[in-house]
Amino acid sequence: MSYSKSSIGLKSYEWSSVDLLKDLTSESITGSQEVIKSRQEHFWHDMSSEFDSKHFLIYLINRSDLKLSDDFLEFVCLWHLDEQNHYRGLRKINSVLYGFLEDDIDRAIKSRQPEFDSISSFMADEFTILVSIAFDEITSTRAYKQDFKLFDSLGPDCLSEWIRNAAKDEAAHYGNAIKLLKKNHSSRFNELPVILDKIVSLETSDGFGYNNTFIFDHDTDDFSNELLIDSKNTILEVLGRE
Ligand SMILES: [Fe+2]
Ligand SMILES: [Fe+2]
Repeated sequence: MSYSKSSIGLKSYEWSSVDLLKDLTSESITGSQEVIKSRQEHFWHDMSSEFDSKHFLIYLINRSDLKLSDDFLEFVCLWHLDEQNHYRGLRKINSVLYGFLEDDIDRAIKSRQPEFDSISSFMADEFTILVSIAFDEITSTRAYKQDFKLFDSLGPDCLSEWIRNAAKDEAAHYGNAIKLLKKNHSSRFNELPVILDKIVSLETSDGFGYNNTFIFDHDTDDFSNELLIDSKNTILEVLGRE
């Protein structure tokens, strides 16, 4: 099901994490407690990053120098709704798996501050921002696909459905970013190899850390160098700059 309000045919799917996970309880989890414990930091990381879409949106809106197009604003508004839906889903999942109250999670997550200075060179204009988002979203898609087995092992069907819905959304975000790049920025595709190389260098550099910015959050072992290089190569291939 596509979201028909988009004037330029951007994809967005209608679903609610809160509805889907409304009957999820800790008693319904049948997966290995050892595995669940070993994934605690990853679940918290993914949940935080989803929430941080709010930081990224506010950063973009406050950058009055950027001159963002109407197409981009349409893209980023649809994207933000999806990411906050993912946050609410992972908040429930973290609460059920690890015994936190959702209100306590909310308080902890909302007290964090973003720091965009160290990635400002990738936030130069709408083109470099879209390339960065495309890279981020295809990597998220593949990382969530890696998690299908883990979610399936936890027991409840709603968790299997949740991770597949989230992966489908991330794929739509990637596709929408590629659509805008092709539509409005093809004259700059000669810059793609350099920008994407810089993104991979940043995320694989010693001491690279995530600063609550949503974008460039690939600092856990879920994101192998191979995964990051594959993301770069896919974008170059899709945009004809291989
Ligand atoms: Fe997401
Ligand atoms: Fe996304």
